[in-house]
Amino acid sequence: MSLYSFIKQRYDRVNDFFIETLMSEIKTPYDRIGGESAVRKLCQTFYQVMCDTPQTQLIRAMHPEEIGLSEEKLYLFLTGWLGGPPIYTDKYGHPRLRKRHMPFPIGIEERDQWLYCMAQALKSMGLDELFSQQLMGSFVQTADFMRNKPNEE
Ligand code: HEM
Repeated sequence: MSLYSFIKQRYDRVNDFFIETLMSEIKTPYDRIGGESAVRKLCQTFYQVMCDTPQTQLIRAMHPEEIGLSEEKLYLFLTGWLGGPPIYTDKYGHPRLRKRHMPFPIGIEERDQWLYCMAQALKSMGLDELFSQQLMGSFVQTADFMRNKPNEE
């Protein structure tokens, strides 16, 4: 074996080791939030707030009377969205969220009601403040992307 190959082989192994170590220390948002039970709790609180808050009845009324399946779908979706297993896609295919929301007229008021529920649900989780704000920032972007009513800013 040439000196070059010898050094390269050693270097590659060290490199693999560093990459492996780094990857094992990078946690997904799914891990940081607390995995399955935490995402379930977030979705449960989200819909509980939506059902119990008089100011969010506009969007509550868009959902089926029986809210259980909506909660389950949000749980499946958020799991993958946060970097956990892609269980929504496995069951329902590509989320195409904007398209799936088209049957519901979503404007500024609807968006803000949805975000209110999510803000309350997130607050109840007692997460690290910066992480919680980062999550909320992503929800704000996604919720705004869902708007489909014409003639709104
Ligand atoms: C912007 C305001 C929003 C409103 C008013 C809204 C409303 C709704 C409604 C009425 C449904 C149908 C419920 C059902 O089929 O059980 C639904 C489904 C769903 N929503 Fe939203 N939504 C909003 C934003 C979001 C956002 C930001 C996300 C994700 C971060 C999201 C994720 C989902 C998912 C995963 C489903 C299930 C889709 C399916 O498989 O049919 N929604 N939403």
